[in-house]
Amino acid sequence: MAQVLWSGRLEEKPEAEAFAFESSISVDSRLAQEDIAGSRAHVAMLVERGIIPAEAARAIDEELKRIAAELASGKLAIDQNAEDIHSFIEGVLTERLGDAGRMVHAGRSRNDQVAVDLRLYLKRVVPEIAEEIRATCETLLTVAEQHLETVMPGYTHLQRAQPVSLAHHLTAWTAGLVRDRERFLDALSRLDECPLGSGALATTTLALDREAVARSLGFPQPTVNSMDSVADRDFALELAGAAAILATHLSRFCEDIIIWATEEFGFIDLAEQWSTGSSIMPQKKNPDFAELIRGKAGRQIGNLVSLLTLLKGLPYAYDRDLQEDKEALFDALDTSRATLRMFRPMIATARFRKDRMEAACFGGFLEATDVAEYLVRKGLPFRKAHEVAAQVVRDCVAAGQRSIAERTLADLRSRSDLFDADLYEVIRPAAALRNRSRSGGPAPQAVTAQIAELRRRLG
Ligand code: ARG
Repeated sequence: MAQVLWSGRLEEKPEAEAFAFESSISVDSRLAQEDIAGSRAHVAMLVERGIIPAEAARAIDEELKRIAAELASGKLAIDQNAEDIHSFIEGVLTERLGDAGRMVHAGRSRNDQVAVDLRLYLKRVVPEIAEEIRATCETLLTVAEQHLETVMPGYTHLQRAQPVSLAHHLTAWTAGLVRDRERFLDALSRLDECPLGSGALATTTLALDREAVARSLGFPQPTVNSMDSVADRDFALELAGAAAILATHLSRFCEDIIIWATEEFGFIDLAEQWSTGSSIMPQKKNPDFAELIRGKAGRQIGNLVSLLTLLKGLPYAYDRDLQEDKEALFDALDTSRATLRMFRPMIATARFRKDRMEAACFGGFLEATDVAEYLVRKGLPFRKAHEVAAQVVRDCVAAGQRSIAERTLADLRSRSDLFDADLYEVIRPAAALRNRSRSGGPAPQAVTAQIAELRRRLG
């Protein structure tokens, strides 16, 4: 027969296998320190309100501190046969203190207890993930600063489109990560309310002081409604959402990297440490880390979908289904952290091949838009300028030429007498970059301003 701490009116206990099915200890063990912090705040308030005697409260607080230290040092192991972390800690307390231990749960339910534990845990862990994102942004921006003039093709439809710089591309990635960080921190600001005192769903007849408990746990205020407090998992949805969006970003960046690492592109040379060999093909250097980070996006989207599906049919207020929230939520946060910690050094140690990037700017007629805009500056309506430039590209293709620069001025003038020798300067990739100096654009000084703005947003 299984270990059940409080069976209430029930006389029969579940079989061991059924009990194991119910148990969440393997997942919620990581909430141990938060569970103890919540209990200590609750007990301090109970004694303040005259609900339990001072002597018992002192003994409980001492013992909870001891249990926290023993768990941290490994002297006390969490019993994997316990039902959950809440019953394990209350069980140890009661085993050690007898009746004093039996006082701690007055005015409380595991429903508000698990809700406060989760919020305390997230208040600790989410800033750590925000910091991982900030550090990743900093790495990208530092590499970007070294490549303000490294010209490369920008792509649409994965076809060469217009020249950009590597700095512009890396700053584009960073802009997404900066929003990711804000999303995590935004979710944190909304979950910063204390659910303790909500009880099972309808508070309690005992004269608890919810404000005092909230304050002592570092929450600015208690939650508004006790039924919402035990039913609400919006914070899990928001964070799994933030994690899924982050994973989607990292997946797209890794897709770029995987393409760049091909022999055909050759834009990036990943460090050997961040590549893998093949068990059969001796020559291989595969971008497995980038592929795995891309693959984790599937799992992260799965975590979000799991949580949404878990919640959508639940009647108010608490249902045991909610116990299933933790695995997906913890995995979403763990995976966010793990992927960022792989992505960052992979970028920091990569070698970007300027020669290959620059060479790729020739041969794809990336200068065609610049030719059209040159004609616009000379007074031609854009739609006509677009047609002239298209005709010039057709002429090049027919003549087997790979760049508009290969046309003579006479060739060009046969299509428009607005062409002059200054065109050849305008269509050099470096000039194409410099001339795109609008805010947001790829010109070195424009990217420098973007880098400064993103750093400002990172605080
Ligand atoms: N392990 C449970 C959970 O994570 C704790 C709450 C149990 N509450 C209950 N009424 N059975 O949700």
